[in-house]
Amino acid sequence: MLAALRKDGQDEQAAQLAKLLERGEQAGRMQPSRVVLSRAALPGEAITPSVRPPVDKETGAALADITLPAMLHLAQAPVLNSTLHGSVEALIEEWRHLDRLRAMGIRPPLNCLLFGAPGTGKTKLAQLVSREIGLPLVTARLDGLISSYLGTTARNISALFSFANRYQCVLLLDEFDAIAKVRDDPHEVGEIKRVVNTLLQCLDQRSELGITIAITNHEQLLDSAIWRRFDIRVAVPKPDLGSRLDIVNRYVAPLDVSLAERRFLAWLTEGLTGSEIETLANAIKRAAAMSSNPEFSVLDALKVHALLSSNHRQYPRWEQLLSPIEALAATLAGDRELAFTQEDLARFFGKDQSTISRWIRKHREVT
Ligand SMILES: Nc1ncnc2c1ncn2[C@@H]1O[C@H](COP(=O)(O)OP(=O)(O)OP(=O)(O)O)[C@@H](O)[C@H]1O
Ligand SMILES: [Mg+2]
Repeated sequence: MLAALRKDGQDEQAAQLAKLLERGEQAGRMQPSRVVLSRAALPGEAITPSVRPPVDKETGAALADITLPAMLHLAQAPVLNSTLHGSVEALIEEWRHLDRLRAMGIRPPLNCLLFGAPGTGKTKLAQLVSREIGLPLVTARLDGLISSYLGTTARNISALFSFANRYQCVLLLDEFDAIAKVRDDPHEVGEIKRVVNTLLQCLDQRSELGITIAITNHEQLLDSAIWRRFDIRVAVPKPDLGSRLDIVNRYVAPLDVSLAERRFLAWLTEGLTGSEIETLANAIKRAAAMSSNPEFSVLDALKVHALLSSNHRQYPRWEQLLSPIEALAATLAGDRELAFTQEDLARFFGKDQSTISRWIRKHREVT
């Protein structure tokens, strides 16, 4: 086409087209991504779809599940509060820049322990790290690893680490306390000691091919020597108000919920984990789907849910939900963290501002 334009004497157009083509070519010559550079700095073999996980020699049971990075891209990252986000980012960045660390003669953190209440997103977080580092996730299978035959669990743990040391991967030891608990049970015949000692050796000898992430809900049960082995120990807390709002936003979708209602949900769910907020959001969506009321409100759905379910009694703010409407309005109006204006309250309760003021006055008179 260029030649045709030149032949026709349309030199200016030909020059512009040539420039465009050159730019396109430059865009096609992409620099290798940082993850790829970093991977090149890693020794060890890459896990391909044909690589099988290690197995128990006797039973043939798989000791791990392998998730390739392409599959991890489907997983949604958990919402993290800013401190946790910062430490996770730092960890990921170090693994992405192995070459820089090597130039300084240092190694990246080889292991990381995540601990916290059930349902705070720890497993999801490990998947995120794996995805961001760009390495496959090798998740230990407790049902395969743990055996009732003496010595077999320790042997399986060694086999799992040998596999992880051969291939470039993130090794994930979820429910870690099951294999790393304190070694002082007097009724025990020595199996736990054997398992923990093997684990200590394996952690010490873990090669630099990838990071080991261990997760537990019961950090107090971990053997102290194991605890000390971890370069990084991260407490995964229950979400703060800002994170709760992000979690609410994520899980109430696609339901059309006003901002005031979403902020109320974030306020109400203090003390809940991400998983519990997800369950609550699903209950609201179920109620909305089944409701034929065009005036459907989150507050009504929550009240029904609160009456039906006893699970939430222990949550700090749940009681308020079933208190008289005037009391709830007064609580919301006075809550500094929530910082609801009269306008927000009016929108939230579906009333005008004078009604809200009356409710609050009435409540203050009573109390
Ligand atoms: N911070 C969060 N952001 C978004 N979703 C979350 C968060 N925490 C939990 N969830 C939701 O709860 C589900 C359970 O999370 P996950 O399994 O990662 O928790 P966990 O801490 O590993 O729990 P457990 O200790 O019981 O294994 C997730 O699939 C996700 O849907
Ligand atoms: Mg988990």
